[in-house]
Amino acid sequence: MGASAFSRLTALLDGVTACEDKPVINLHLGQSNLSDHADTDICFESMRSWQPYPNLGGSVELRRAYINWMLNHNAIGVTPSELDLDKKIEPTPGSKQAIFSILFIAVNRLRNSQGVSKPIIMVPNPYYPTYLSSADFLGAQVLFYNSACDNMVEHIASSIGPHQQRIAAIIVCNPANPTGHIMDYAQLLKLNNLAKEISACLLLDECYIDFYHDKKIDSFTRLSLTEPPSMLCDHVVLHTLSKRSAAPGLRSGFAYGTESLIAKFANFNRTCGVSLSKPVCEISEKLWEDSAFITQQQRALAKNWQLADSILGIFDGYKRSPAGFFIWLNTGNGESFTRSLWRSEAVKVLPGAYLCDDSETFTVGHPYVRIALTEKSEVVEEALLRIKNHLQDTSGSVANLSTQER
Ligand SMILES: Cc1ncc(COP(=O)(O)O)c(C=O)c1O
Repeated sequence: MGASAFSRLTALLDGVTACEDKPVINLHLGQSNLSDHADTDICFESMRSWQPYPNLGGSVELRRAYINWMLNHNAIGVTPSELDLDKKIEPTPGSKQAIFSILFIAVNRLRNSQGVSKPIIMVPNPYYPTYLSSADFLGAQVLFYNSACDNMVEHIASSIGPHQQRIAAIIVCNPANPTGHIMDYAQLLKLNNLAKEISACLLLDECYIDFYHDKKIDSFTRLSLTEPPSMLCDHVVLHTLSKRSAAPGLRSGFAYGTESLIAKFANFNRTCGVSLSKPVCEISEKLWEDSAFITQQQRALAKNWQLADSILGIFDGYKRSPAGFFIWLNTGNGESFTRSLWRSEAVKVLPGAYLCDDSETFTVGHPYVRIALTEKSEVVEEALLRIKNHLQDTSGSVANLSTQER
């Protein structure tokens, strides 16, 4: 297995000294500082809050908060009791662990039921690195599909080709990290039908779903809650507080999906995994109910995208992403750009090659860098101006300058 994207970045910048005249700006991580939490004291009265083992499955109040959030997000006007969702949800200590656990269940299911020795996991390219590492740890084969486009379902269908019987799971990140491409309801429905046809498990990572420009992004949960149950493929949708509530340190998210899969996931998590402690359940409940904070973040992010359009819009290599946190900027050579940008401008970004399989004919990552627009607008503006200067100063920039600027 290869080194993680961030270890590769550390190795790439080893021995390169950031320009000392300028304060360092880190835009390589998808960690939001767009809005600050109120400085409320959320310390617990005593160590006693940590003394008991966590409740398996979280608290009743937290589970209710998940369901309320799903119904609100999807504008579904029924009461939670009408839907009986309790067996379809389970807390998870962040989505990273759930990604691995769900894939583990899907891969084992295919091995045990069909005797497939090397099940396949379909992974978007570019990808979030945990997808690849999970497949690797599970001894599964990876089949990539192009996720840097708007017709991902067609790419998934054509990549499946002759492998139908061996596909354990299809992973979809909606909107995609890093490119921000979106699947709409019609595409999600096609995707559902495709997964149903080949009896694959659909794993939907929706951790950036709240970060859209104008139109709310459809969650697979809406489809799952509105289409006839007999039409639905086996699916699990993951949500996390790491991005929407800017709280990745909390390690708190939840999984929603097909009852049998959630039952297996819950069993695994409750016996071998990490359950959310009482204090974490209490904070999480408040965060799932707090829609004002996400609105603040959305406003701050919208301002950053406007800055990006106005500062980098002169470059052919720049295009506003359809959603999410990240600019996916074509610089000609992402690794050498990352090094020279760090040296001359003290701005840290992530080479696209670390999020792509470049052996594929599609979505080749090496010309790109990923730039996170997750800092306050003053910081982002300063970073983007430095990036602009650097693009203009380096020889590669000439090719990237749009014709009107040459
Ligand atoms: C696409 C994607 N999925 C999942 C995660 C992990 O989220 P969590 O903090 O909930 O484990 C990240 C984190 O950057 C991500 O970008």
